[in-house]
Amino acid sequence: MREIIYRSVASETLGGDDIFRIVFRAKRANGRVGLSGFLIYSSGHFLQLLEGPHLELRRTFRVIAQDTRHSDVTVLSERPITERLFPDWRMRRIEQPDEAGARRFMAEQFGDRIPATIDTALREFYATIGGCLAARAG
Ligand SMILES: Cc1cc2nc3c(=O)[nH]c(=O)nc-3n(C[C@H](O)[C@H](O)[C@H](O)COP(=O)(O)O)c2cc1C
Repeated sequence: MREIIYRSVASETLGGDDIFRIVFRAKRANGRVGLSGFLIYSSGHFLQLLEGPHLELRRTFRVIAQDTRHSDVTVLSERPITERLFPDWRMRRIEQPDEAGARRFMAEQFGDRIPATIDTALREFYATIGGCLAARAG
């Protein structure tokens, strides 16, 4: 199995209904091919972790990367795994606008020991969002 974490920039026209629809359909599709993971949407950016059988993961990720509802898809980490981190989440939407909230949420899932790939990805993701917001304000 394999795990991939990426971030991307949501299309400017994307609304709450669209995100609901993406997750709703992702759950169904992921269930069919044995993928699991989470999706965070915050300040116009996505962070997604996908895990599962190598071939299915590559195939789904290729489709996702070409989806016009987001752009600038940037892989933050990719690695082989022997166990899933989120066996019960075909695609879990996590609504945490800031890093502290996301960390608290993950710490609850993992009994305070957040896996290194997620720890690094969260830091990178919220730093990117912070940078974008600062650039827009300044
Ligand atoms: C941010 C984002 C995350 C997505 N996550 C998934 C996913 O986990 N699994 C999936 O099958 N499709 C996901 N999609 C949707 C795919 O890009 C694509 O629309 C879908 O797989 C096509 O299926 P359909 O032809 O049945 O609509 C995601 C799209 C976006 C924009």
